[in-house]
Amino acid sequence: MEKKFENLPTHIAIIMDGNGRWAKERGLKRTEGHKVGAEVFRNICQYCAEIGVKHVTFYAFSTENWKRSKLEVTAIMNLFRRYLEEMQERYLENEEAGYRIRFLGSREGMPKDLLKMMDTVERKSADKTRININLAVNYGGRDEIVHSVRGIAEKVKAGLVSVDDIDENMISQGLFTAGQPDPDLIIRPSGEYRLSNYLLWQSAYAELYIDDVLWPDYTPADLDRAIEEYGRRNRRFGGV
Ligand code: IPE
Ligand code: IPE
Ligand code: MG
Repeated sequence: MEKKFENLPTHIAIIMDGNGRWAKERGLKRTEGHKVGAEVFRNICQYCAEIGVKHVTFYAFSTENWKRSKLEVTAIMNLFRRYLEEMQERYLENEEAGYRIRFLGSREGMPKDLLKMMDTVERKSADKTRININLAVNYGGRDEIVHSVRGIAEKVKAGLVSVDDIDENMISQGLFTAGQPDPDLIIRPSGEYRLSNYLLWQSAYAELYIDDVLWPDYTPADLDRAIEEYGRRNRRFGGV
């Protein structure tokens, strides 16, 4: 595909929200919305790779989403399991597509079989460079910062780091996104004006784009609109 955008964000982060409302509008169960949402996730991944986005992060399940019914949580975990199985079954296709896949989030509370598959998928795709796809599962921005700070505290305790050495970079390096650029653009479909604990540290200077479309209806044309709007923003980073 030829170059489509003058100003393409290096890193786009998406909050995949609105599955439940989408299903309700149609008289379906919430889980049906998640099922369609998972398909949309696959399409948007592919589209991001096509237009040349280098990093894309999807919010799939938050540390707060465990509050939902057991039925809904299980359905979401099963969809995730299906995705991981597919990644392994279609290993050669993914190899060709050049997807590097990484998971952001806490391992605590996650089903063991999923953790094992996540490790395999990450390991097997680690040398791919076309696009880096992060899937935030059991992810919370505050939890992530606590995780980083604990790691630093351990190093201080062991005498490897002095308190004066602690800086922003050290905290960044302890996050799940260590070594990756911060998001340039955060997109939230479904019309909610909040971050819901998403990439709190990394979003410091991200451009925010709220869309009314519900995630299961989200299309590449919607992403195009967000990227075009991003291209018109004036990012100052505190300067003039
Ligand atoms: C996003 O859709 C998926 C998850 C949070 C797992 P929701 O399930 O939050 O959908 P709404 O917001 O209830 O419509
Ligand atoms: C954020 O959506 C989490 C994901 C999309 C995975 P929520 O639906 O959980 O957020 P709130 O509850 O509306 O803030
Ligand atoms: Mg929601």
